[in-house]
Amino acid sequence: MKYKRILLKLSGEALMGNKGFGIDQVRLMEYAKEIKAAHDSGCQVAIVIGGGNIFRGIQAEQGGMDRVHGDYMGMLATVINSMAIQSALENLKVETRLQSAIKMEQICEPFIRRKAVRHLEKGRVVIFGAGSGNPYFTTDSAAALRAIEIEADVILKGTRVDGIYTADPEKDPKATKYDRISFEEVYGKGLEVMDLTAFTLCKENNLPIIVFDMNKPGNLQNLIKGEKVGTLVEV
Ligand code: GTP
Repeated sequence: MKYKRILLKLSGEALMGNKGFGIDQVRLMEYAKEIKAAHDSGCQVAIVIGGGNIFRGIQAEQGGMDRVHGDYMGMLATVINSMAIQSALENLKVETRLQSAIKMEQICEPFIRRKAVRHLEKGRVVIFGAGSGNPYFTTDSAAALRAIEIEADVILKGTRVDGIYTADPEKDPKATKYDRISFEEVYGKGLEVMDLTAFTLCKENNLPIIVFDMNKPGNLQNLIKGEKVGTLVEV
């Protein structure tokens, strides 16, 4: 196994499946099975999930809502998605713990770094909800922050494309995929991997990022074994 402790970042939109809004139970269970397989192979798994399938702070701002207010609503949306993932995993008999950056004691534990690490050591999948607990920060930034805090070996960004391309593959048919690329190159070429806050956190802390297609069964498990899947961003 190449990676012993991973932080898996999923977008909220991915949970919609083919629906226009909310959570598609079929997709949710598919993801849970992928995560269970990774967990069963002995890998310590932490998860951060976005909330865009339920609420997007930036769009709310365009509609006239205060940005900070919208961002807090978005953080709550991530807790709903986190609870959904937690429930799906527990259906598959995977032990989980949910920790939130915003206290909601009746629903989940508060984020406590040392406890999160202990849970991981005990083989529990740890889900981090409510982003970083701060407005103006994306869930990608929260994922990078938590990954660094728990000393994950890598941050795995599950998307619907299979890696980073020289140009947008949906617009440019000549675009080719990178197997590996350096942080500097991503920055220099202006390629979009994560927002700059998240990206810089990873770069400065030497945390590799792998962008991969989460919708292809087996990808997550193969990645952990060290097989070439998606695009690896490293120093
Ligand atoms: P160990 O200390 O390693 O045994 O971990 P543990 O998580 O099993 O112990 P703990 O007694 O802290 O937690 C038991 C259960 O209560 C777990 O399902 C936790 O997720 C849950 N739990 C712990 N703290 C909180 C909290 O503040 N709020 C909520 N809602 N649940 C909590």
